[in-house]
Formats: sequence, structure tokens, C-alpha cells
Amino acid sequence: MTVDLVVRNCTVVTPAGRTPDAGVAVENGTIVAVGRSDRLPEAERVVDADGNVLVPGIVDCHIHNREPGLEYKEDWESATRAAAAGGVTTVVGMPNTDPVIDRPEHLELKYERGEASAHVDFQSYAVVTSENLDLIPALDETGVLGYKVFLGSTVGDVPPPSDGEILEAMERIRETGKRLGFHEENGEIIDHYTEQFQAAGKNDPIHHSHSRPVIAEQEAVERMITFADETGAKIHMFHVSSGSAAEAVAGGKDRGVDVTAETTPHYLWFTEDVMREKGNVARIQPPIRDAEERAKLWETGIENGAIDCFATDHAPHTPEEKKVDDPFGNTWDAISGFVGLETEVPVMLTFVDQGRFTLEEWVRRHSTRPAQVWGMYPQKGSLQVGTDADFTIVDPGAEWTLENAEELHSKNCVTPFEGETFTGKTVATVVRGEVVYEDGAVVGESGYGTRVDVE
Ligand code: DOR
Ligand code: ZN
Repeated sequence: MTVDLVVRNCTVVTPAGRTPDAGVAVENGTIVAVGRSDRLPEAERVVDADGNVLVPGIVDCHIHNREPGLEYKEDWESATRAAAAGGVTTVVGMPNTDPVIDRPEHLELKYERGEASAHVDFQSYAVVTSENLDLIPALDETGVLGYKVFLGSTVGDVPPPSDGEILEAMERIRETGKRLGFHEENGEIIDHYTEQFQAAGKNDPIHHSHSRPVIAEQEAVERMITFADETGAKIHMFHVSSGSAAEAVAGGKDRGVDVTAETTPHYLWFTEDVMREKGNVARIQPPIRDAEERAKLWETGIENGAIDCFATDHAPHTPEEKKVDDPFGNTWDAISGFVGLETEVPVMLTFVDQGRFTLEEWVRRHSTRPAQVWGMYPQKGSLQVGTDADFTIVDPGAEWTLENAEELHSKNCVTPFEGETFTGKTVATVVRGEVVYEDGAVVGESGYGTRVDVE
């Protein structure tokens, strides 16, 4: 038997363990064998992975791809080009585009644009507001992956539904079997302190962080867990930034609520000191926390398991919007968010190198769990025979520094990870059996990526 593709001579790592001198065989875009290099079938194309590590493709369920409507920041083509270069084989786009993804026609538009230009596979969330509770079943039928509510004001200014509307949304979403995720910051708390800080002339980048205190995040997590306990809805906490919020998630899990959670590379890597060192470049919502909260996020979230997933919150803005020319200028004139798709794998591999978690634990949180949480498993997030041949090949020992963020593939590349040094990098990315990134170049075709179909 001759198959389409064999990748050999790698250590294959899944959450279940690792197999040295192994590889994967692919036919028609699906995995047909995983095993020892010398037992794999003949193939049209054989890739020698040079002893590197092969894992199921990274699944990033939190990116702002910006299309439709905000293509001056990023679009499906550029976001998924960055994903391919970053080792990410599936991305899920956030709904704060223009128009917002709040009805079937807008979701279809987003899918059409993705089908036309994506390099890797993709999906999308729909937003729930006061205006569209009755559209939840129709969004489900259009194929949406899951739903999002913005509890506090953030980029896009999507207004939060009332508590009553959130309860009703949970009931309706429970009927669809899908999950509802939150931007979990209590809007009344952050609006109050934002106004107070602005009136007092507290205009430094660190003041932006302190205007959105941990209690706003912790309270929002606890309230949504209480609502989910009542309604039986499946819920998710996007971008958990603090140990206190991770403890709240752990409390919800203990209560038997189906609450899952994600954190991002920047909350694990930086402390709020980065606001004093890099200024508004690092401005993001929720903000990067102090050392004590970060330590607790590591302990409760990572060591004790409250955090299920890693994702980037990849949020490109122009250098003008980020105020890079004057990074310590008035923070209220700057915007929140920065790119992350090409630094997430290196950040996580650096933590592996530091012994903070194992390769197996990395793969679980960065591929398998996200696919499970959002209903894409085992098609995505696994190396099971018969599933999509998505994989990421990494060199865990490669030391490098991101000298210049302009080397990245996004349309706008501002990131506080510029200047940081990593141990580990993406070597190649394979989506459904096609090599989309290798030797430092995106080699896949725009438009190859396709929507991941979910029940
Ligand atoms: O910093 C952020 N940027 N937080 C968000 O909630 C949204 C995101 C964006 O869309 O830029
Ligand atoms: Zn986000």
C-alpha cells in the first residue's frame, strides 16, 4: 500500500504519552496509521522530521480574525497565515466584527469569507445580546460552534444582556447542546473605576490595569457559575487572567457545574510590571495581573487543573491604534489587544523547557481539551486513525528571540512578546494532510482551510 504522506523520525506526543522514533501516515487527508517509523507504509511524499516532536494540531479557540468589516486590522487570510506559521491548525473567530456575528446571515458571511481565503480550518462564535435571544436556534442550525456574551465593555462595545436575559439565553443554549462562553468582567465595576480614574487624571498604562480589578473578573465568574447551576447550561470562561478567577472556576467544577476555562500565554508569562516596561503595547482586557495573582493562576489553574485550555486572544490592531510611537502616553487614547498566534507555541514550549508542565500536559490543553470543550473532538485534537490529519511539528530545543515583530505574518504585528527569548519553535504545520507551513514559509494555499462542521 502506498499512502499520500508519511511523516517519520519524530517523537509522537499525545496527552496519553510519547513514542520515540515514530510517525504518522496519511491518506485522503485522514490519519491511517500512527506508529514506529520502520512500520509505516510507503508514501508518495515522506517527510523526515529530524527527531523533532509531532503533536495533534494546535487548536486555538480564541482569535479575533476581524473579518467581516475590520479588515484594516486583520482578515481571514492574514490571521490564518499567522496561524499556519504558528503551528495552529484550527482557529475559532470571535464575533466582535462589523457587523457583529449575531444572526445567521452574518455568520454565513463570516463562513463565506473564511472558505474563500483561510489557510487553516476554522469556526466562529455568535454573540448573544438583548436583541437576539430568539435567534439562538437558527444560529445553531447555521452551524455555529458556540456562543459568547460580553459581560463588561470591551473592544467592539457589544452591550451585555441583563441578568434575566442571560438566564434565558442559558436555557435556550442548553437546548442546543452547545456551550456559552463569557468575557467575564463585571461591567458596572470596570465602568465605575474607568470613569473615576479618568476624572482623577490617572492616565498611565498601569492605571488601565488597575481600573479593571480582579474582583470584577472573580465576581463575573461566580455569578455565571450560579446561573449555570440553576439552568444546567454548559459554560466557558474565556481568557482567565487571575488566580482568584481560577479559584472561582475550581469552585464551580467542585459544585458539579459544567464550567470550562482557558488562559492565555500573556497571563502566564508576564506580570503587570510589563505595563511599566512596555506600556500600552501590553494593554489588554482583562489586564495582565500582579505577581501574586499570576502565582495563584499557575497553582490553581495549571497545577491543580482549573484551566482546561490555552488560547491566544489574538487581537490585532494598527500601530496607530496601539500608540506604539508613544507607548507611555495617555492610556485612555490607546486600544486593548495584541497578536499572539505565532508566539503561543514557543511560549508553551519554553514553559515545558523550564519544567513547569510536560509536553503531554501542553498538548492536552492546547489541542485535545479545546477540541473537546467546543465539540470538535476527535476530528480535531487527536491522532486517532480516521480523523483529520492535522499536526504540528515542533523543535522543543530551539532557542530564539523575537527581535522584530514585523517578522510575523499578521497584517498588524504589535505584541509585548517582541524582544522575548524562547526555547522551542514550530517547524511545520499540516492541515488535513497538506503541509501548510515548513522551512520558515507559509506554503499552503489561501482558501484551503474549511469550516469545521459540528453537530
Ligand atoms: O483586549 C481585548 N481586545 N479584549 C477584548 O475583550 C477584545 C479584544 C479585541 O477585540 O481587540
Ligand atoms: Zn478576545
